[in-house]
Amino acid sequence: MKFFIDTANLNDIAEAQALGVLDGVTTNPSLMAKEGITGTDNIIAHYKKICDLVEGDVSAEVISTDFEGMVKEGEALAALHPQIVVKLPLIADGIKACKYFSDKGIRTNVTLVFSPGQALLAAKAGATYVSPFIGRLDDISTDGLNLISEIRLIYDNYGFQTQILAASVRHTMHIIDCAKLGSDVMTGPLSAIKGLLKHPLTDSGLAQFLADYQKGNK
Ligand code: E4P
Repeated sequence: MKFFIDTANLNDIAEAQALGVLDGVTTNPSLMAKEGITGTDNIIAHYKKICDLVEGDVSAEVISTDFEGMVKEGEALAALHPQIVVKLPLIADGIKACKYFSDKGIRTNVTLVFSPGQALLAAKAGATYVSPFIGRLDDISTDGLNLISEIRLIYDNYGFQTQILAASVRHTMHIIDCAKLGSDVMTGPLSAIKGLLKHPLTDSGLAQFLADYQKGNK
């Protein structure tokens, strides 16, 4: 499973990259705003900084909601750097734009996916990635992980190459559950990734090893 970090925070991206397990970055307009990145020039400069920090795919989301606007914005984003993946919302014009980009060989991430039918449409339009938001489904008492299973089944039934990118991952167990269900990618915060490191027996075991070494090497 690929690990993407879901943030526009350069320190968090650098820390995940330094761990050696990072495969890419996802951003969205809210995450950019959270870091105080506003204005087209600053947003573009920030995407370039992220691409310089990591080796993998970097999802950059369009703001337009009409086909022509998405195509114009998406082409400009894709031209910024070979690592950029154009992120499009799952609306009718987003699906049309996805097909347009896929025919041109430009990679896409179809976002704001909350149902298996939406994921099926994204795959038929040739999306590189589809982003089901599991945390936001959990937030409204709906089983977000079940959506991953349903999309996995549908994609496997027909051999769709679109990669399932589990998004809105909020915590460490989401990552483990997505891995069990065969999600191709997960995107989550640094805290969820670092949570995978933790086990009290690792900490106590290491403390014991070091204490025993000290006893024998005074
Ligand atoms: C996906 O690409 C989104 O950026 C993200 O995962 C949304 O997560 P949230 O529901 O925690 O905002």
